[in-house]
Parts: sequence; C-alpha cells; structure tokens
Amino acid sequence: LERRRFPVKELRALASARSGGKTVSFSGESVAVREATAESLSGVDIALFSAGASRSHALAPAVLASGGVVVDNSSAFRMRPDVPLVVPEINAHAMAKHGGIIANPNCAAIILTVAIHPLRQLAGLERIVVSTYQSASGAGARAMEELVEQTRGHLAGNEPAPEVFKWPLAFNLFSHNTDIQENGYNGEENKVIEETRKILEMPKLGVAVTCVRVATLRAHCESVWLEFDRPVSEHDARSVLSTAPGVILQDDRANNHFPMPREASGQDAVFVGRIRRDLHNPNALQLFCAGDQLLKGAALNAVQIAELVTAAR
Ligand SMILES: NC(=O)c1ccc[n+]([C@@H]2O[C@H](COP(=O)([O-])OP(=O)(O)OC[C@H]3O[C@@H](n4cnc5c(N)ncnc54)[C@H](OP(=O)(O)O)[C@@H]3O)[C@@H](O)[C@H]2O)c1
Repeated sequence: LERRRFPVKELRALASARSGGKTVSFSGESVAVREATAESLSGVDIALFSAGASRSHALAPAVLASGGVVVDNSSAFRMRPDVPLVVPEINAHAMAKHGGIIANPNCAAIILTVAIHPLRQLAGLERIVVSTYQSASGAGARAMEELVEQTRGHLAGNEPAPEVFKWPLAFNLFSHNTDIQENGYNGEENKVIEETRKILEMPKLGVAVTCVRVATLRAHCESVWLEFDRPVSEHDARSVLSTAPGVILQDDRANNHFPMPREASGQDAVFVGRIRRDLHNPNALQLFCAGDQLLKGAALNAVQIAELVTAAR
C-alpha cells in the first residue's frame, strides 16, 4: 500500500489477539496492531483479508454491513459464482459486478495465468500441463522459519523435527502439503485447476497439474506445457510476452539464464522464459516461470484490486 502510494486516510492493522501490543510501520508512522473483530472492522471502506478462510467467513459480514468491500486473499469465496476472482492484468472487467467481496486467487494460479494469458492473443488455448515448485513461504511465516532452522540443524547434525510440514523440507521436496481429495489431486492442485479456468473464463480448459513444495524460501516456479488450436512459434510467443503487462521475459539461452526464485523474490513481475516448442506436437509450447507469490501471488494482486475498487468509486 505504501509503495504504491495507495490513498489511505486511516490504516487499521488487524491480526489475532496474539499480536496485541505489536506495531507495524506505515508511511513513517507506527500503527498499533489490534485484534480483528466485527467492531475493529466497522466503517472500513476496503478490508484486505489474509488470515485464512474461516476468519474471512467470520469477519466479511461486518465489512459488508457497513458498506465496505472485502478483497479476500483466502480460499473462502473464490469459487462462488457471485464473487469475481480477479487478476487485474487479465480480467479486471469481472469486477464490474460484485456484491462487496472480490477474491484474490491462489498464488500458483495467479503466476500461471499471468504467464499464459498473453499467449492467448496468438491462438486458442486447448490444454495445459503444469508442474509447480512452491516455496516454503507459501505456507506462511512459520513455514519459512522452519525451513531456515531445519537447514541450519541439518548442517550442524541436530535437525529439529518438522512441525509445520509433515516431512522435512530442507534438502528435500515433496508433494504439496494440502490433503489429497477424492479425485486424487491435492487441495492446491484442485485450486489451480478450478481457479485457472475461472480467471481465464474457460470453464472447460484441460488443466493437468502437479504441485510440489521445494526447499526455497520465497517465489514459486512453474513448468508449463501449453497446447493451442494451431501452431505458435517461439518467436511470436517471445514477442507477445516481451510486452505483456506484469511479465518480464527472461529467456537468455546463450547464458542459460532463465526464471529462478531468488531473482523473482521481491519483484512485482512474473518472470517467463525457457520458451521452446514441443518436438512432437506442432501445436504445443513449453515455458518456465517464476513469480513472488507473496507479492503478485498475494499482496500486490490484492492491492491492485483495491486500486480498481477505489478508481470505480
Ligand atoms: N503465503 C502465501 O504465499 C499466500 C499466497 C496467497 C494466499 N495466501 C493466503 O493468505 C492467508 C494467510 O496466509 P499467510 O501465508 O500470510 O499465513 P501466516 O504467515 O501464518 O499469517 C497469518 C496471518 O493471519 C493472522 N491470523 C491468524 N489467526 C487469526 C485470527 N483468529 N484473527 C485474526 N487474524 C488472524 C495472523 O496474525 P497473528 O500473527 O496475530 O497470528 C497473521 O497475520 C491464507 O488464507 C493463505 O491461504 C497465502
């Protein structure tokens, strides 16, 4: 909010009761953190929710009752037909009609759709196959701390037992930590499938996805195979991606320099590269992308939505 000079008249910093007494700094001022309750939310114009789905369900009515808008970062409302699921570079038009709640999509779905949406200018998209490489911070602040402590402990020979994740993440990777659901996909994979279809407004798009947690701290990567309804050249793909909003084309074959989490961390754009054609299917291309899931995959996207809400008032 501060970096983008969002027109804030009053900022309320809300968390759980555990954070009572803490402060956050905003525009040179120290703001006391208060408990998120119906009372502390009363009268707000825009509420940016990011405390999990159950909190969103519990607290949204208080914001709506006083005429405010909720931009929700949890999965609570994303697939509700009356709630727009918005990535501003792609479907800002979906915000024309909303009932006070606008959902911020899943982080892996945002990074994926920002990378592939520009390619839809070139040909009809038929099917995508995605594998993700998701960092510890996607599971929250405690998961980042766990990876750091575990890495230190592993090297020193006194590795602590994992608490946030079921398995050790240091020097490891594993199938995404969300539960496997009835269709054999885990919760994260089903979010990527359903939310990608909703954001792209392609309810029948074929999406096959494997979500994996890897031992990086920040930024998610994705390996993406795309099939179109006709051939798309590498040259044309690079050309549209080089000017696409929210994308940085990073496709330097000579130096083997392609998207990676450490370079994507702290950046607003989604980095896209390794663009190459499928050697056996003339209608298919492959690419690799990296995006900071705490920024474009969460906070930045939410603030961009809030900017659109403010502009429409
Ligand atoms: N991490 C990501 O990359 C990412 C990306 C997209 C969406 N999300 C979504 O964002 C939400 C938060 O995830 P996170 O990764 O930021 O988790 P986190 O680092 O664990 O932070 C959770 C936040 O929620 C607050 N909170 C917890 N219980 C609360 C309660 N009962 N009342 C009020 N506030 C409460 C916490 O406050 P205290 O410090 O006081 O406990 C903390 O500020 C989740 O819905 C997640 O799915 C996360």
